[in-house]
Amino acid sequence: MSETSPAEKPTAAPAAPEKKTESLETIVALCKRRGFIFASSDIYGGFNGFFDYGPLGVELKRNIRDCWWRDMVQRRDDVVGIESSIIMHPKVWQASGHVDGFTDPLVDCKTSKQRFRADQLFFAAVVVDGSVRGYVSALESEDTSGALQAAAEAFKRKQAIQGTLAPVEPREFTEATAEQIPQIPSPATGEPGSLTPPRAFNMMFETQVGALRDGSSVAYLRPETAQGMFVDFKPVVDTGRVKLPFGIAQVGKSFRNEITPRNFIFRSREFEQMEMEYFIHEDADWQAHHREWIQWCWDWLKSIGLPEAELSLYDHPKEKLSFYSRGTTDIMFRYPFGVQELWGIAARGNYDLGQHEQASGVPQAIFDEATKKKFIPHVIEPAVGTDRIFLAVLCAAYAEETITDEKGATDTRTVLRLSPRIAPVKVAVLPLLKNKDALTTRAKALYKKLQHRYAVFYDEAGAIGRRYRRQDEIGTPWCVTIDFDTVEKDGSFTLRERDSMQQRRISEAELFTLLDEAVY
Ligand code: GAP
Repeated sequence: MSETSPAEKPTAAPAAPEKKTESLETIVALCKRRGFIFASSDIYGGFNGFFDYGPLGVELKRNIRDCWWRDMVQRRDDVVGIESSIIMHPKVWQASGHVDGFTDPLVDCKTSKQRFRADQLFFAAVVVDGSVRGYVSALESEDTSGALQAAAEAFKRKQAIQGTLAPVEPREFTEATAEQIPQIPSPATGEPGSLTPPRAFNMMFETQVGALRDGSSVAYLRPETAQGMFVDFKPVVDTGRVKLPFGIAQVGKSFRNEITPRNFIFRSREFEQMEMEYFIHEDADWQAHHREWIQWCWDWLKSIGLPEAELSLYDHPKEKLSFYSRGTTDIMFRYPFGVQELWGIAARGNYDLGQHEQASGVPQAIFDEATKKKFIPHVIEPAVGTDRIFLAVLCAAYAEETITDEKGATDTRTVLRLSPRIAPVKVAVLPLLKNKDALTTRAKALYKKLQHRYAVFYDEAGAIGRRYRRQDEIGTPWCVTIDFDTVEKDGSFTLRERDSMQQRRISEAELFTLLDEAVY
């Protein structure tokens, strides 16, 4: 019997080239297998656009949220937090413009009863020898043009049309004319004639408050947390000793009746937002503040382990901005289904506070000691979805590695290279052998001690190599193995690192220091 922990088999030569996943299905399967995320109400067949976080998922999500809160609120002198109610006075949503304008263009397929978002539905004319012979359609994908081109070629073949097919020119369904709409095939049936013209569909969930059920009792589940910060601006200013520039932040659930929830938790109907409204002087250099916040968000994403190579910036074109917006830049992430918005950083002027002042009659201006003037502050808003970060970190962290032992045998290891800051379990404590009391007693004592500060896992079942792999798959950065040297010699134990699979001896004090530095 070995005195100390055996090295893993196959042993950890530096990891061979890594195979990065390109498939969302792999991530979804891992989430289900290891208890990160389940479909909501699964025993009833699930509920489209709603999800449940399981035992590991809830830890990971909480860690993301807690890291954000610590860095955004607790570690900054100029940001305070609030938690506003989810259901607010319906006038909030009238003033903010959501009742009239928070809509997506909806298209119905009358035959299949399926619904599409017109801005995610594309069509193209099939042009042969200069004349339009029909239309094809495709739902937005990573290669919408390619899909339309293929559909146009298939159309030409099926109709036995002779001549030269022109390259397709994709258009959003929102741009289709009344004449074109009946000729555009439904993506559900492949046949034209069943699609309706787009109509504005309000995405807010309605509910009724109180015993009376009429128009006067209608209220909404909030579609964003941001309005909480605007309507609480005055009370925060009056009670909080804040001075411009300063921010108000909150984390909480938002609800949108998305027409096409998709890509797992990327676009769902109930999700969590982490938003901050940073109020600045009306004459402040908003572009400089905007740039600073973009940089802050970028750096923060790196600090929780997102690789810079997977991130990019997208500036919204001026002509697509809402009339009150001065500029919006999104931090994009390369998800398996394409490069998509992760975090939006918007310069919103003083539109929201101005609207609430007008609608409520309560002045929102603050007095500037320097200029002796009253004004309504302007705002920079970094707004992100916790669930989108969750999905991004899983996609970035997931790896399947081929490892080769000293005899040349290969094996595949699945590993989540999560940052220790957000990993659901920080360290696993493993007695080398299950049936040796001295080892399990020492291991349990260490486990209990660690548990006071960290999420820890105790595992005595199975071969040590298998136990390491189980931890690799859920992203545990370290395992400690209690062996005979631990109990018979100096109390040190083997620390095994997830990414390098290297092992070294470490004392208990060193372990606590290592965890403290890596986790907080
Ligand atoms: N207050 C501004 C606001 O809510 P948004 O771009 O509509 O702006 C901000 O939302 C962030 O919330 C997005 O960048 C995204 O991370 C997240 N988000 C928005 N809709 C979502 C949905 N249906 N499912 C998951 N996350 C969503």
